Amino acid sequence: MRASDLEQDFDRVLFTQEQVEARVAEVAAQIDADYEGRDILMVGVLNGAVMTLADLCRSMRSHMTMDWMAVSSYGAGTKSSGVVRILKDLSGDIEGKDVLIVEDIIDTGLTLSYLVQNLRSRGPKSLEIMAMFRKPEALTSPVDVRYVGFDIPNEFVVGYGLDYAGRYRNLTDVATLAPHVYA
Ligand code: IMP
Repeated sequence: MRASDLEQDFDRVLFTQEQVEARVAEVAAQIDADYEGRDILMVGVLNGAVMTLADLCRSMRSHMTMDWMAVSSYGAGTKSSGVVRILKDLSGDIEGKDVLIVEDIIDTGLTLSYLVQNLRSRGPKSLEIMAMFRKPEALTSPVDVRYVGFDIPNEFVVGYGLDYAGRYRNLTDVATLAPHVYA
């Protein structure tokens, strides 16, 4: 779905599908260069990182494997609950592996701080983070992010995997919602 398919639901398009694709290719090239000759275990955070991980790994030339985790975050609203819970753990072991966490967006940083702490305790060889979007103003739990797609203003956005009440993940552009959607 493009923003133009459902124009009345969106206030402003922040990034078009083409801009997102171009940026993903740039980050993929950066990852390839940094991990040259190494196998990367990419850990996607469900559900939001599905699009980012799928596109990122297909743009990469490095060998990679993937695994997924699901953690609780916002429920159906737009505010962080402040509580992080593992809903689905990794299927495999990460000990001694080069792990790259792939996250959709960093808002407060709470989810990633928790994930990093949790995964680090499992003894990976290295642990880095790629986040497609980051809201610098909202970052209350600082995390060391190696790769960022875009820094964005402190607004609630949807598209490219990001949802509001489960919807809009299939929007290929990234946009803010029109006020009537929240009403
Ligand atoms: P944090 O723990 O506050 O950094 O929140 C991270 C999670 O909140 C993300 O993985 C998203 O699921 C969700 N989230 C934060 N901001 C947005 C947004 O603007 N749109 C959609 N989901 C968001």
